[in-house]
Amino acid sequence: MFSKPVIQLITQRCSWRNYNGKAIEEDKKKQLIDFMSKVKDCPFGSIAAFELVHDSLDGKKTVPGTYGLIKRAESFIVGTVKKAEKDLEDFGFLFEKIILYATDIGLSTCWMGGTFSQTSFADKVALKQDETLPAISPVGYPAKKRAMMDTMIHLTVGSKRRKPWKDIFFNKNSDTALQEKDAGKYAIPLEMARLAPSSSNSQPWRIIKDKDRFHFLLKRSIKFDKFSMADLQRIDMGICMSHFELVAREAGLSGKWDTRDMGPLPKKTEYVATWVTQ
Ligand SMILES: Cc1cc2nc3c(=O)[nH]c(=O)nc-3n(C[C@H](O)[C@H](O)[C@H](O)COP(=O)(O)O)c2cc1C
Repeated sequence: MFSKPVIQLITQRCSWRNYNGKAIEEDKKKQLIDFMSKVKDCPFGSIAAFELVHDSLDGKKTVPGTYGLIKRAESFIVGTVKKAEKDLEDFGFLFEKIILYATDIGLSTCWMGGTFSQTSFADKVALKQDETLPAISPVGYPAKKRAMMDTMIHLTVGSKRRKPWKDIFFNKNSDTALQEKDAGKYAIPLEMARLAPSSSNSQPWRIIKDKDRFHFLLKRSIKFDKFSMADLQRIDMGICMSHFELVAREAGLSGKWDTRDMGPLPKKTEYVATWVTQ
Protein backbone atom coordinates (compact mmCIF):
# COMPACT_ATOMS: atom_id res chain seq x y z
CA MET A 1 0.00 0.00 0.00
CA PHE A 2 2.81 2.42 0.95
CA SER A 3 6.44 2.60 -0.17
CA LYS A 4 7.68 3.23 3.39
CA PRO A 5 6.84 1.39 6.61
CA VAL A 6 3.54 2.73 7.93
CA ILE A 7 5.14 3.36 11.34
CA GLN A 8 7.50 5.81 9.67
CA LEU A 9 4.60 7.61 7.96
CA ILE A 10 2.57 7.82 11.16
CA THR A 11 5.46 9.30 13.13
CA GLN A 12 6.44 11.67 10.33
CA ARG A 13 2.95 13.11 9.61
CA CYS A 14 1.83 16.31 11.28
CA SER A 15 -0.76 18.92 10.39
CA TRP A 16 0.42 21.73 8.15
CA ARG A 17 -1.70 24.83 7.52
CA ASN A 18 0.47 27.05 5.34
CA TYR A 19 1.86 25.99 2.00
CA ASN A 20 4.33 27.40 -0.50
CA GLY A 21 1.86 27.72 -3.39
CA LYS A 22 3.74 25.26 -5.62
CA ALA A 23 1.41 23.07 -7.65
CA ILE A 24 1.62 19.30 -7.17
CA GLU A 25 3.29 17.64 -10.17
CA GLU A 26 0.91 15.90 -12.60
CA ASP A 27 2.33 12.42 -11.97
CA LYS A 28 1.91 12.82 -8.20
CA LYS A 29 -1.65 14.05 -8.69
CA LYS A 30 -2.37 10.95 -10.76
CA GLN A 31 -0.84 8.67 -8.09
CA LEU A 32 -2.95 10.31 -5.39
CA ILE A 33 -6.17 10.15 -7.42
CA ASP A 34 -5.49 6.53 -8.24
CA PHE A 35 -4.95 5.69 -4.55
CA MET A 36 -8.09 7.60 -3.54
CA SER A 37 -10.19 5.62 -5.99
CA LYS A 38 -9.03 2.36 -4.42
CA VAL A 39 -9.58 2.91 -0.69
CA LYS A 40 -12.91 1.23 -0.14
CA ASP A 41 -12.68 -1.50 2.50
CA CYS A 42 -13.81 -0.26 5.87
CA PRO A 43 -15.04 -1.90 9.09
CA PHE A 44 -18.73 -0.97 8.75
CA GLY A 45 -19.10 -1.13 4.95
CA SER A 46 -19.96 2.54 4.34
CA ILE A 47 -19.56 4.08 0.92
CA ALA A 48 -17.16 7.00 0.76
CA ALA A 49 -15.63 8.89 -2.15
CA PHE A 50 -12.64 11.20 -2.34
CA GLU A 51 -11.78 13.86 -4.89
CA LEU A 52 -8.82 16.09 -5.49
CA VAL A 53 -10.06 19.60 -6.16
CA HIS A 54 -8.08 22.63 -7.17
CA ASP A 55 -8.57 26.30 -6.58
CA SER A 56 -6.68 28.87 -8.51
CA LEU A 57 -5.34 31.20 -5.86
CA ASP A 58 -5.28 34.21 -8.22
CA GLY A 59 -2.72 35.97 -6.07
CA LYS A 60 -4.75 35.43 -2.88
CA LYS A 61 -2.79 34.22 0.12
CA THR A 62 -5.55 32.53 2.07
CA VAL A 63 -7.80 29.88 0.57
CA PRO A 64 -11.49 30.87 0.36
CA GLY A 65 -13.75 28.68 2.51
CA THR A 66 -11.08 28.01 5.17
CA TYR A 67 -11.69 31.07 7.39
CA GLY A 68 -8.23 32.40 6.61
CA LEU A 69 -6.57 29.42 8.24
CA ILE A 70 -5.14 27.65 5.22
CA LYS A 71 -2.60 29.63 3.27
CA ARG A 72 -1.39 29.16 -0.29
CA ALA A 73 -2.68 25.60 -0.79
CA GLU A 74 -3.85 25.02 -4.31
CA SER A 75 -5.23 21.50 -3.91
CA PHE A 76 -7.63 19.88 -1.46
CA ILE A 77 -8.77 16.36 -0.80
CA VAL A 78 -12.53 16.46 -0.32
CA GLY A 79 -14.26 13.41 1.11
CA THR A 80 -17.93 12.52 1.07
CA VAL A 81 -19.78 9.58 2.59
CA LYS A 82 -23.25 8.12 2.15
CA LYS A 83 -25.33 8.61 5.29
CA ALA A 84 -25.36 5.41 7.34
CA GLU A 85 -25.10 4.33 10.98
CA LYS A 86 -21.30 4.22 11.34
CA ASP A 87 -20.50 6.39 8.32
CA LEU A 88 -18.18 8.79 10.14
CA GLU A 89 -16.02 6.08 11.71
CA ASP A 90 -15.58 4.54 8.24
CA PHE A 91 -14.90 7.96 6.76
CA GLY A 92 -12.08 8.60 9.24
CA PHE A 93 -10.72 5.10 8.67
CA LEU A 94 -10.47 5.58 4.89
CA PHE A 95 -9.46 9.23 4.76
CA GLU A 96 -6.53 8.60 7.13
CA LYS A 97 -5.11 6.07 4.66
CA ILE A 98 -5.13 8.80 2.03
CA ILE A 99 -3.45 11.24 4.44
CA LEU A 100 -0.70 8.66 5.05
CA TYR A 101 -0.36 7.99 1.34
CA ALA A 102 0.07 11.73 0.70
CA THR A 103 2.77 11.71 3.40
CA ASP A 104 4.41 8.79 1.62
CA ILE A 105 4.69 10.72 -1.64
CA GLY A 106 6.14 13.78 0.11
CA LEU A 107 3.03 15.93 0.52
CA SER A 108 1.75 17.72 3.61
CA THR A 109 -1.85 17.71 4.80
CA CYS A 110 -4.16 18.90 7.59
CA TRP A 111 -7.40 17.22 8.60
CA MET A 112 -10.12 19.91 8.70
CA GLY A 113 -13.53 19.14 10.06
CA GLY A 114 -14.42 22.40 11.72
CA THR A 115 -12.72 25.37 10.16
CA PHE A 116 -13.99 25.13 6.62
CA SER A 117 -17.14 26.19 4.82
CA GLN A 118 -19.07 23.07 3.88
CA THR A 119 -21.07 24.84 1.22
CA SER A 120 -18.10 26.15 -0.75
CA PHE A 121 -16.57 22.67 -0.91
CA ALA A 122 -19.92 20.89 -1.46
CA ASP A 123 -20.33 22.86 -4.68
CA LYS A 124 -16.97 21.62 -5.95
CA VAL A 125 -17.92 17.94 -5.62
CA ALA A 126 -21.66 18.09 -6.39
CA LEU A 127 -22.70 16.72 -3.00
CA LYS A 128 -25.85 14.57 -3.19
CA GLN A 129 -28.74 14.59 -0.71
CA ASP A 130 -27.91 11.20 0.78
CA GLU A 131 -24.27 12.16 1.38
CA THR A 132 -22.36 14.31 3.86
CA LEU A 133 -19.05 16.12 3.51
CA PRO A 134 -17.51 15.74 6.98
CA ALA A 135 -13.94 16.87 6.35
CA ILE A 136 -11.36 18.07 3.85
CA SER A 137 -7.60 18.42 3.79
CA PRO A 138 -5.29 20.78 1.96
CA VAL A 139 -2.53 18.88 0.23
CA GLY A 140 0.72 20.25 -1.12
CA TYR A 141 4.19 21.43 -0.25
CA PRO A 142 4.64 23.16 3.09
CA ALA A 143 5.96 26.69 3.44
CA LYS A 144 9.45 26.97 4.92
CA LYS A 145 8.11 28.13 8.27
CA ARG A 146 4.82 27.68 10.09
CA ALA A 147 2.64 30.80 9.92
CA MET A 148 1.79 32.48 13.23
CA MET A 149 -1.79 31.15 13.22
CA ASP A 150 -0.58 27.60 12.54
CA THR A 151 1.94 27.83 15.39
CA MET A 152 -0.79 29.18 17.68
CA ILE A 153 -3.14 26.27 16.92
CA HIS A 154 -0.26 23.84 17.28
CA LEU A 155 0.47 25.21 20.75
CA THR A 156 -3.12 25.77 21.92
CA VAL A 157 -4.34 22.25 21.20
CA GLY A 158 -0.97 20.75 22.17
CA SER A 159 -0.62 19.01 18.81
CA LYS A 160 2.60 17.27 19.75
CA ARG A 161 1.22 15.83 22.98
CA ARG A 162 -0.62 12.55 23.28
CA LYS A 163 -2.28 10.97 26.32
CA PRO A 164 -0.17 8.35 28.10
CA TRP A 165 -1.01 4.64 27.87
CA LYS A 166 -2.44 4.55 31.40
CA ASP A 167 -5.21 7.02 30.47
CA ILE A 168 -6.40 5.28 27.32
CA PHE A 169 -5.46 1.57 27.27
CA PHE A 170 -6.89 -0.91 29.75
CA ASN A 171 -6.61 -4.57 30.62
CA LYS A 172 -9.88 -6.55 30.98
CA ASN A 173 -11.73 -3.65 32.60
CA SER A 174 -11.51 0.09 32.70
CA ASP A 175 -9.96 0.14 36.21
CA THR A 176 -6.72 -1.59 35.23
CA ALA A 177 -4.20 0.16 32.99
CA LEU A 178 -2.68 -2.01 30.28
CA GLN A 179 1.07 -2.41 30.67
CA GLU A 180 3.15 -2.53 27.51
CA LYS A 181 4.49 -5.95 28.43
CA ASP A 182 0.93 -7.32 28.63
CA ALA A 183 0.06 -6.00 25.17
CA GLY A 184 2.41 -8.57 23.58
CA LYS A 185 2.71 -8.26 19.80
CA TYR A 186 0.06 -5.58 19.88
CA ALA A 187 2.23 -3.07 21.76
CA ILE A 188 3.28 -1.36 18.51
CA PRO A 189 -0.18 -1.23 16.86
CA LEU A 190 -1.46 0.30 20.13
CA GLU A 191 1.36 2.80 20.28
CA MET A 192 0.64 3.86 16.68
CA ALA A 193 -3.09 4.15 17.46
CA ARG A 194 -2.10 6.44 20.35
CA LEU A 195 -0.26 8.76 17.95
CA ALA A 196 -3.28 9.25 15.67
CA PRO A 197 -4.41 12.80 14.94
CA SER A 198 -7.78 13.86 16.32
CA SER A 199 -10.05 16.89 16.29
CA SER A 200 -8.65 19.49 18.72
CA ASN A 201 -6.18 16.73 19.65
CA SER A 202 -8.94 15.35 21.90
CA GLN A 203 -7.92 11.66 21.57
CA PRO A 204 -11.35 10.30 22.50
CA TRP A 205 -10.37 6.63 22.04
CA ARG A 206 -10.23 4.12 24.87
CA ILE A 207 -9.13 0.55 24.18
CA ILE A 208 -9.77 -2.40 26.47
CA LYS A 209 -7.80 -5.60 25.88
CA ASP A 210 -9.69 -8.70 26.86
CA LYS A 211 -7.57 -11.75 26.05
CA ASP A 212 -7.56 -11.93 22.24
CA ARG A 213 -9.98 -9.04 21.75
CA PHE A 214 -9.43 -5.30 21.72
CA HIS A 215 -12.58 -3.24 22.34
CA PHE A 216 -12.53 0.28 20.90
CA LEU A 217 -14.67 2.77 22.83
CA LEU A 218 -15.44 6.45 22.38
CA LYS A 219 -15.20 8.74 25.38
CA ARG A 220 -16.44 12.14 24.40
CA SER A 221 -14.75 15.27 25.61
CA ILE A 222 -16.39 17.67 23.20
CA LYS A 223 -20.12 18.21 23.25
CA PHE A 224 -21.37 17.42 19.78
CA ASP A 225 -23.60 20.01 18.20
CA LYS A 226 -25.26 18.45 15.17
CA PHE A 227 -26.18 21.82 13.68
CA SER A 228 -22.65 23.12 13.27
CA MET A 229 -20.52 20.31 11.84
CA ALA A 230 -19.97 16.58 11.63
CA ASP A 231 -19.52 14.51 14.79
CA LEU A 232 -15.74 14.81 14.65
CA GLN A 233 -14.94 12.49 17.54
CA ARG A 234 -16.52 9.60 15.64
CA ILE A 235 -14.17 10.40 12.76
CA ASP A 236 -11.30 10.36 15.29
CA MET A 237 -12.29 6.81 16.26
CA GLY A 238 -12.02 5.69 12.64
CA ILE A 239 -8.57 7.26 12.33
CA CYS A 240 -7.33 5.45 15.43
CA MET A 241 -8.74 2.13 14.14
CA SER A 242 -7.04 2.73 10.80
CA HIS A 243 -3.61 3.19 12.42
CA PHE A 244 -4.13 0.11 14.58
CA GLU A 245 -5.13 -2.15 11.68
CA LEU A 246 -2.49 -0.85 9.24
CA VAL A 247 0.31 -1.44 11.75
CA ALA A 248 -1.04 -4.82 12.86
CA ARG A 249 -1.29 -6.02 9.25
CA GLU A 250 2.17 -4.73 8.41
CA ALA A 251 3.50 -6.72 11.38
CA GLY A 252 1.78 -9.84 10.01
CA LEU A 253 -0.84 -9.93 12.78
CA SER A 254 -4.19 -11.08 11.49
CA GLY A 255 -7.52 -10.12 12.89
CA LYS A 256 -10.86 -8.69 11.92
CA TRP A 257 -13.35 -6.11 13.10
CA ASP A 258 -16.36 -7.39 14.95
CA THR A 259 -19.12 -4.92 15.51
CA ARG A 260 -21.24 -6.78 18.01
CA ASP A 261 -21.40 -5.16 21.40
CA MET A 262 -18.97 -6.03 24.22
CA GLY A 263 -21.56 -6.13 27.01
CA PRO A 264 -21.76 -3.60 29.86
CA LEU A 265 -19.73 -0.49 29.10
CA PRO A 266 -17.55 1.62 31.37
CA LYS A 267 -19.18 4.87 32.44
CA LYS A 268 -19.54 7.63 29.83
CA THR A 269 -18.26 5.56 26.94
CA GLU A 270 -19.84 4.46 23.67
CA TYR A 271 -19.02 1.16 22.04
CA VAL A 272 -17.54 1.36 18.54
CA ALA A 273 -15.97 -1.98 17.50
CA THR A 274 -13.80 -4.89 18.56
CA TRP A 275 -10.62 -6.14 16.90
CA VAL A 276 -10.61 -9.92 17.19
CA THR A 277 -7.19 -11.47 16.76
CA GLN A 278 -7.02 -14.64 14.68
C1 LIG B 1 -11.34 14.85 12.39
C2 LIG B 1 -10.37 15.99 12.56
C3 LIG B 1 -10.79 17.29 12.35
C4 LIG B 1 -9.89 18.36 12.45
N1 LIG B 1 -10.33 19.64 12.19
C5 LIG B 1 -9.47 20.67 12.21
C6 LIG B 1 -9.91 21.96 11.84
O1 LIG B 1 -11.07 22.19 11.51
N2 LIG B 1 -8.98 22.97 11.84
C7 LIG B 1 -7.69 22.76 12.18
O2 LIG B 1 -6.91 23.71 12.15
N3 LIG B 1 -7.23 21.53 12.55
C8 LIG B 1 -8.08 20.48 12.55
N4 LIG B 1 -7.66 19.21 12.88
C9 LIG B 1 -6.22 18.97 13.17
C10 LIG B 1 -5.96 18.68 14.64
O3 LIG B 1 -5.99 19.86 15.41
C11 LIG B 1 -4.61 17.96 14.76
O4 LIG B 1 -4.66 16.75 14.04
C12 LIG B 1 -4.22 17.66 16.19
O5 LIG B 1 -3.99 18.85 16.91
C13 LIG B 1 -2.92 16.82 16.27
O6 LIG B 1 -1.88 17.47 15.62
P1 LIG B 1 -1.06 16.82 14.43
O7 LIG B 1 -2.06 16.52 13.32
O8 LIG B 1 -0.04 17.83 14.04
O9 LIG B 1 -0.47 15.54 14.96
C14 LIG B 1 -8.54 18.13 12.81
C15 LIG B 1 -8.12 16.80 13.03
C16 LIG B 1 -9.01 15.75 12.89
C17 LIG B 1 -8.53 14.36 13.09
